[in-house]
Amino acid sequence: MAWETDAIRSIELRDPRGVPLPPFSPGAHIDLTLPGKLKRSYSLIGSPEDRSRYEIGVYREPQSRGGSIALHDQIRVGDLIESTEPANNFELREDASHSVFIAGGIGITPFLPMVERLGHKLRPFELHYCARDRASAGFVERLRGCGPRLHVAYSREPGGCRIDIAQIVAAAPEDTHLYCCGPKPMLEDFERATSGRDPAFIHVEHFTPVDPPALAGGYLVELARAGRTVAVPPGNTLLQTLLDEGFDVPCSCLEGVCGTCETRVLAGVPDHRDVVLSKEERAAGNTMMICCSGAKSERLVLDL
Ligand code: FES
Repeated sequence: MAWETDAIRSIELRDPRGVPLPPFSPGAHIDLTLPGKLKRSYSLIGSPEDRSRYEIGVYREPQSRGGSIALHDQIRVGDLIESTEPANNFELREDASHSVFIAGGIGITPFLPMVERLGHKLRPFELHYCARDRASAGFVERLRGCGPRLHVAYSREPGGCRIDIAQIVAAAPEDTHLYCCGPKPMLEDFERATSGRDPAFIHVEHFTPVDPPALAGGYLVELARAGRTVAVPPGNTLLQTLLDEGFDVPCSCLEGVCGTCETRVLAGVPDHRDVVLSKEERAAGNTMMICCSGAKSERLVLDL
């Protein structure tokens, strides 16, 4: 464990048997099961080439729902923590002609292995990183290798400024892949600034849900492989209904952020509430996050 700033800790995870860990690609995350059975997702910040360890960066959230406090105050070196295998909802397009990364606060974490990979491949990129002040800006030293491609702004320092997302986006050529990860107002600015662009070039990583879960109920879910149909009552999520019915369904964050519960839709129209699927994936309706999404049709048929 190491302190990056007063509020950010980097934590190393290794397999207790010493075996190589499953591979991951830049932008990937793992879901950890923390004390109190809390499940939380963390971006992997180390090198994908190093299979001996995973590294995560954890900000001690003042409004923590328990996850960051557990990792800061309760976990000790040598403790066993259960982790999923890495998954990636925030893939790096390594062959992009140009890439622009915009990070706010602890939103810098998924970009650490991304810029390292592009740096090794000599691909052009720029990284705009906004933090409150120098004391709260994690990983700046690690990013020094980016050289002039790194632009850091301190919003609350005397003479400091925010980054101008609209201007950064406007200056980027149309075929630039644009990425953003940070607090909600930053993501909203980014989505506004990129609304006229081809969605295939826009990549957003959310840490928290945007929409409330679908709780209206009143629809049927047919589980094609199990050969059963269940009714989702008002006030329940689809996932909770399945768990209540005794189905064992993989899930983690329970709020549409991690992608663990992604399920194939064979028929019907989902009411998407997650932040994992892109606009095109939502419109195609081929998969859904059953922890938070519901149905717009009277019946859904799922590959379960
Ligand atoms: S459990 Fe995380 S998206 Fe559904």
